Amino acid sequence: MTVTITNVMAISLDGLIGRNAFESDVERRKYNFTNSDDREFVREQLVCADAVITGANSLRASGCAWTVNNDRGVNPAWIVFTTKGLSVELEFWRQKTIRRVLVSPFPVQEELCAASGVENWILTENSPIEVVHRLEREGLGRILLFGGGAINKLFYENQLVDFAKITVCPLVIGGVNSPRFVDLGLKAPVHFTAIASVLKQDLVFLTYRVKK
Ligand SMILES: NC(=O)c1ccc[n+]([C@@H]2O[C@H](COP(=O)([O-])OP(=O)(O)OC[C@H]3O[C@@H](n4cnc5c(N)ncnc54)[C@H](OP(=O)(O)O)[C@@H]3O)[C@@H](O)[C@H]2O)c1
Repeated sequence: MTVTITNVMAISLDGLIGRNAFESDVERRKYNFTNSDDREFVREQLVCADAVITGANSLRASGCAWTVNNDRGVNPAWIVFTTKGLSVELEFWRQKTIRRVLVSPFPVQEELCAASGVENWILTENSPIEVVHRLEREGLGRILLFGGGAINKLFYENQLVDFAKITVCPLVIGGVNSPRFVDLGLKAPVHFTAIASVLKQDLVFLTYRVKK
């Protein structure tokens, strides 16, 4: 089967994805970083997706997976990279109708995972590549990469990303420690081919193919 990994992100004009590491989508909409058009755009992407990959900080910020039935009648699986595990307070642990996986280099929160129906994939080497192989073997080939910057870096560095759907939002954040679209320290530049651009109110929706 074909695997396609699409990085879906909203960025400011200075390439940042939030003011701090734990800022939620809801908070971003409150200060007009994103808006309801972008939320609808993300929902449309989820309808055509089998799985979402994200980082622990992004999940800590949102608290939960998006609840969206895809075109196969199930919620996309939610795959979260973590080393420290997630707070028991998060709604994520109670979303039992959604397939949820924690990917970590050693076992995390074993009892909580068992009680909440969350899988823990323990991957010590090449975890991004191994995760993609596992999803492929299960027929979950339409993968959305939801960031944040740390997880995006991991996937771009391993040349796993096929497309980027970037919403450019009309603000400059300028935060010193704000999370970036891709964390600093990439070993080599990543190049893209522009495929489409749509202007909707003040937001620009860009689609790129990653050159490999
Ligand atoms: N604007 C947007 O479209 C958008 C999209 C996504 C996120 N965001 C925002 O971005 C911020 C979060 O971004 P971020 O860059 O700080 O964090 P992130 O990429 O969401 O998560 C980073 C975390 O991932 C885990 N991790 C990293 N490498 C790993 C590995 N090799 N194996 C296992 N786990 C690994 C670590 O978790 P542990 O801490 O458990 O070690 C690390 O702290 C939030 O504010 C969020 O709302 C914005």
